[in-house]
Amino acid sequence: MKKVLLLSLSLPLVASAEEPAVTYHRDIAPIIYANCTACHRPGESGPFPLTNYTEVSRRAMTISRVVNDRYMPPWHANDEVTKFLDVRRLSSDQIARIDQWIAAGKPEGDAADAPSYPTFTEGWQLGEPDLVVTMKEAYPVPAEGRDIYRNFVLPLDLPEDQWVKAIELRPSARSVVHHSLYFLDDSGTARTLDGKDGKPGFNGMTFRMSGALGGYVPGVSARKLPGDLARPLPKGSDLILSTHFHPSGKAEMEQTTVGIYFADAAPAKKLEELQLPPGFGRSAGIDIPPGEKDYRIEDSFKLPVDVEAHFVSGHAHYLCTTMKMTATLPDGTEKVLLDIPEWDMDWQDTYYFAEPIVLTAGTVVKSVITYDNSADNPNNPTTPPVRVKWGRESTDEMGSITLSGVALDESDATRLNLSTKANRARIFTQLGQDLRKQGVLERLPAIVKSLDANGDGLLQEAELPQRMRGALLMRLDEDGDKALNSSEIQSLKDWLSALKAGEGA
Ligand code: HEC
Repeated sequence: MKKVLLLSLSLPLVASAEEPAVTYHRDIAPIIYANCTACHRPGESGPFPLTNYTEVSRRAMTISRVVNDRYMPPWHANDEVTKFLDVRRLSSDQIARIDQWIAAGKPEGDAADAPSYPTFTEGWQLGEPDLVVTMKEAYPVPAEGRDIYRNFVLPLDLPEDQWVKAIELRPSARSVVHHSLYFLDDSGTARTLDGKDGKPGFNGMTFRMSGALGGYVPGVSARKLPGDLARPLPKGSDLILSTHFHPSGKAEMEQTTVGIYFADAAPAKKLEELQLPPGFGRSAGIDIPPGEKDYRIEDSFKLPVDVEAHFVSGHAHYLCTTMKMTATLPDGTEKVLLDIPEWDMDWQDTYYFAEPIVLTAGTVVKSVITYDNSADNPNNPTTPPVRVKWGRESTDEMGSITLSGVALDESDATRLNLSTKANRARIFTQLGQDLRKQGVLERLPAIVKSLDANGDGLLQEAELPQRMRGALLMRLDEDGDKALNSSEIQSLKDWLSALKAGEGA
């Protein structure tokens, strides 16, 4: 992937003997401060600091390699076809200047020429948060073993409703945190599950989730939602951090701190998310044969109302190679909303459009995601390659692109909300097909009987296999008692027969 560095020899190396054409303080420090130091300073994600002449000149050759490769600053979206905010990309001139400085012998120059060191808030990228909460105990992540999914309850005890502009996550052991999602629980059920198995937090998604606030994935620089947009945070809600750990070879203790930034007022419009395919790709039935070099999934959705799109983000694991989301407007115009020509699982950014993009009613939004499950893919976590299906382990695959925006016209907000809900519900069609393939309809009475360990005719949560507890239970458990009674089991039966009939038609 890394190309050989070619120095740009056409540029003059030295202007005169006394005054080098390029000096660190005058020419290089401004580039480094503006593009590198936010991450490359003590306590941040960069593996070493780049804050002064000594630190930068010591690593000059590596810096030249990574900026020429465009490996740093990290940025993966094509910003020529889509205009984004805060693009982290050096111009060819800036790269040439770095190379010219190295070729001239890395002259330091006069410190009086240096720009002033940028002001960073210690510990926070977005400045002092309005509310800071920390996990009450650290969670032990072992050196080896399978990925771990664990939820942690962070009581917020807010006396009044708030609107959230941003959440900044500070893991104490960054190397093992694959990602965290933020959920809300206003019923207190998560608190009752916390620590029951003797370790901080709890497993599974069986708490009554009452809302979601986005998530943190590596590489995402915290950013406040654009304009007056904000996500609702009702008073009395607990924040649930749902963290995916990937053991790193070294035992770690993770105690996450979260900084929350509030909006001053409620937003004028409600933010909606359109995820294609929904369920982080679950609905696409991802199933990649070993050796397959160009596996692709696609999904599309027709917008029922005019939408103003604000930002976009993708999610997938190691085998993914490219991602693209396009919008075809009713007049046939095509707009690229996200084009990631070289997917990198370590840099799953959220990309904010430079200007909100208006997509008129009838626009078809489409996402296409490709995977390489051959031995030629250097990111393939398994050698030799094996069949890979949708799943939550990082060696399984996922794949989806999420577009976030608002209804252009406030009177369309409800319709947009219902259509994004209907889009999410499509994961149940796939789930149903999986169950159908396994012959669950035919075997349902026998399955219920075999699962019903205490023989009371109901299926309690504890009797269900772990993987059925979350989405399926939430969908079927109409009375919310965390058990499936005979009428709820009948709904499952009806749903599967309806699917069967639908497929036959
Ligand atoms: C958004 C945060 C971020 C920004 C901005 C950033 N870096 Fe990095 N950098 C990282 C992280 C994290 C790593 C370690 C992981 C990796 O290599 O991907 C890294 C790794 C590196 C490495 C080591 C690469 C290697 O192959 O050993 C160099 C050199 C580097 N950065 C230089 C720079 C320079 C120069 C800039 C600015 C032009 C920059 N970085 C901007 C976060 C950042």
